[in-house]
Amino acid sequence: CLQVATNVTEQHRHVSRAKRGQVLGHLRGFRGCTVWFTGLSGAGKTSVSFELEAYLIQHGIPAYSLDGDNMRTGLCKDLGFSKKDREENIRRVAEVARLFADAGQICLCSFVSPFAEDREVARRIHKDSDLPFFEVFVDTPIEVCEQRDTKGLYHKARLGLIKGFTGIDQLYETPENPELVVKTVNSTVKESTMEVVDLLREYGILP
Ligand code: PPS
Ligand code: MG
Repeated sequence: CLQVATNVTEQHRHVSRAKRGQVLGHLRGFRGCTVWFTGLSGAGKTSVSFELEAYLIQHGIPAYSLDGDNMRTGLCKDLGFSKKDREENIRRVAEVARLFADAGQICLCSFVSPFAEDREVARRIHKDSDLPFFEVFVDTPIEVCEQRDTKGLYHKARLGLIKGFTGIDQLYETPENPELVVKTVNSTVKESTMEVVDLLREYGILP
């Protein structure tokens, strides 16, 4: 079949993760991993991810955020919001996250990623490469997200101007075993961010 890559053989690089870790950041050591933020639109995924990225960089730790809104203008601009397109979106960005993590970055992914099986694919992609993967459920009730309506998308979805909007006329499957649940109601972005920092300390990613 011409659509599928055949006759490809994995090529092995010369640089080990340990070696790579020796030249990365102020706090030397390989810390490559992926933190995967999932939650409704407006839950606070981007806010916490970007705050955490700033915190890590400020502390001399290599980190890089991949965000749904941003990826969808580039690598994933051919994809919409059907179940199938979201599946491909998540698969693609998970592969990119794996590369960032393998390169020694703490890769911060903020995607609605509403379907459990797609999140499992992302986890599996990392597991198969021996890279830590932390699923963080940004748990904000839909009423709160809709009240915030930072981009006016809930309003449009209610009017029927956006079809397949997560939580309105498409499903969000609540994570069953996330490494962390962050509740954004009654907490500041900073506080939520520090909860993720604590998680990374617990798992020995951060000192
Ligand atoms: S997904 O489900 O993971 O593939 O979605 P993602 O790549 O994270 O993109 C979500 C952002 O796209 C905007 N948007 C929508 N979100 C959900 N459902 C529909 N139908 C939709 N249409 C556009 C919205 O800005 C999302 O960003 P966040 O930050 O979640 O609000
Ligand atoms: Mg966002």
